[in-house]
Amino acid sequence: MADKRKVVIDCDTGVDDAMALLLCLKRLDVLGITTVGGNVGLQNTQRNTRYVTEIAGRTDVPVFAGYAKPLLVPLQDASYVHGAGGLGNIQVPEPQKPLEKQHAVDFIIETFMDQNDVSLITLGPLTNIAQALLKEPRLAQRIPDILTMGGSTAGGNATAAAEFNIFVDPEAAKLVFESGIPIRMVGLNLTRQQVATPEMRDRVKAIGNPAAQFAARLFGDREGKPGRDSFCDACAVMWMIDPTVITKSAKMHVTVETRGEFTRGMTVCDIRGFRSDVPPSDIAHEYHFDPLPAGGTPNVEVALELDAPRFDRVLLETLEMYS
Ligand code: RIB
Ligand code: CA
Repeated sequence: MADKRKVVIDCDTGVDDAMALLLCLKRLDVLGITTVGGNVGLQNTQRNTRYVTEIAGRTDVPVFAGYAKPLLVPLQDASYVHGAGGLGNIQVPEPQKPLEKQHAVDFIIETFMDQNDVSLITLGPLTNIAQALLKEPRLAQRIPDILTMGGSTAGGNATAAAEFNIFVDPEAAKLVFESGIPIRMVGLNLTRQQVATPEMRDRVKAIGNPAAQFAARLFGDREGKPGRDSFCDACAVMWMIDPTVITKSAKMHVTVETRGEFTRGMTVCDIRGFRSDVPPSDIAHEYHFDPLPAGGTPNVEVALELDAPRFDRVLLETLEMYS
């Protein structure tokens, strides 16, 4: 695919992953999609992913199954948010498209060891990525960049402190965040700026093609659920599809709490250098001063501001491309 960014996507296909996949399968050169246990169990996340490739008319894109559970702890899923099957009240028939036999981790290792110009996008818990780094440590020098939906500079959703993707597997997330691979992080502080509205659902539905009809049903699962009315994963992939959708970002040190009694899974973002000198705003979105004592070396570029109308425009334009 001429001039489209080559990516591998790792996801735990639930409602917002599905919306993100519709965007990526049309706008990016998706070499493969790896799946992980997260929103729901792996059997459902891999099946949902195969189903979405059929809806998108992209059954040429291989789908792989990875790890069903986190590195050290049992899986705590989000079926209370995404429904038992993972796609809300959308009943998903068994897809015709087969699952690849190769393990997701081996596909990730093979792809990034063999190719230099592929980006990694993660939309679920980071278990597969951590397992790949453990199995092939040279990956840390081979993966050029990771775009991840996860974490937050300001509070969680799975707990008061932790965002779901990080909360499910904090050990995996800490390993990835401290790997040295350049990371762009789209956290809840950003995704909360995007709201799925009934008006947008109606505009999506009016497009009329099968992908848009499916997307309209995904809206149905989000509406009227304050705090759950964002397509978090779609916000993340927008940063690669149309970078102008993210209007402000900042580099800072981020690591993951793995032992806190109340904060396990929190992304500890060092925002001290961004303390605003314009009360009452909390943090400025420009670097202000060196915190004392000096914080850790900035290792993550954190998305801070979203152009929500532009998000809606790119979503509509992409779904129209399926006609
Ligand atoms: O916290 C939101 C994230 O957790 C999204 O990726 C959603 O799909 C769930 O995996
Ligand atoms: Ca997800």
